[in-house]
Amino acid sequence: MGMPSIVTLISGRGSNFEAIYKTAQKEQWPVTFAGVIANNSAAKGLDFARSQGIPAFAIEHKEHPNRESFDAALIQQIDALGADLVVLAGFMRILTPGFIRHFEGRLINIHPALLPAFPGLHTHERALEAGVKEHGATVHFVNEGVDEGPIICQASVPVLEGDDADTLAARVLTAEHQIYPRAVKWFLDGRLRIEGNQVKLQPPESQFFKL
Ligand code: GRF
Repeated sequence: MGMPSIVTLISGRGSNFEAIYKTAQKEQWPVTFAGVIANNSAAKGLDFARSQGIPAFAIEHKEHPNRESFDAALIQQIDALGADLVVLAGFMRILTPGFIRHFEGRLINIHPALLPAFPGLHTHERALEAGVKEHGATVHFVNEGVDEGPIICQASVPVLEGDDADTLAARVLTAEHQIYPRAVKWFLDGRLRIEGNQVKLQPPESQFFKL
C-alpha cells in the first residue's frame, strides 16, 4: 500500500495549504500531496504549489452552467489524482450533496470561527459586532449542512481592545496555521473516529487549543 495522498481545494491565497505542506515537510510525514485545485486560475496558492512541484490547476466554476456540473468535474479530477483525504483550504464554494457523499468521511474544512458560532461569511466582522471576547477557528468534517460537520479541533484567540476585522483575522489565521496541520496528521495516522456528530481522537489528547 502506497503513502496516503491528499488533494487540496483552494480559492485564493492558500496559506493554510502552505502551513500543512511545510509542517509535513518539516516533520517528514509519509504522505503524497497529489494535487492542488482552485475554482479560479487567479488563485495565488497555485503558484506556491507549482513551486513545490505539486500538480496545480484551476477548474473555473464560471465555465460550468451549474454547481452539479462543476462538482462533477471536480470529482472526476480528484478521483483521477487519487485522494485518501480532500482538504478544503479557503475553498469558497458550497459543495453539492452528491460531492459531499462521494467523499464522506475523508473531506475536511477549516472555518474562521468557533463553530457553531458564526457559520457562513464575514465571521470576524460579526464577532466584533457581537462583542464576543473570544474568537477562533474550527476544523471539521464536511457534511451537507454549511459549516455544520463534526468538529475535529478548535483554537481560540482573544478579541483585543482596538481590534478591527483585519487584526482579528490575522490573529485567527495564525491559529488556523497551527491547528489545520494537526488535524490532517491525526487523520493520516488513522486516529479520528466519527461517532454521530462527535469526533473521537485515539489515543485521546486535547482537541482544543487556547492561543
Ligand atoms: C481562511 O481564513 C479560512 O478559514 C477561510 O478562508 C481563509 C483562507 O485563507 N475559509 P487561505 O487561502 O488558506 O490563506
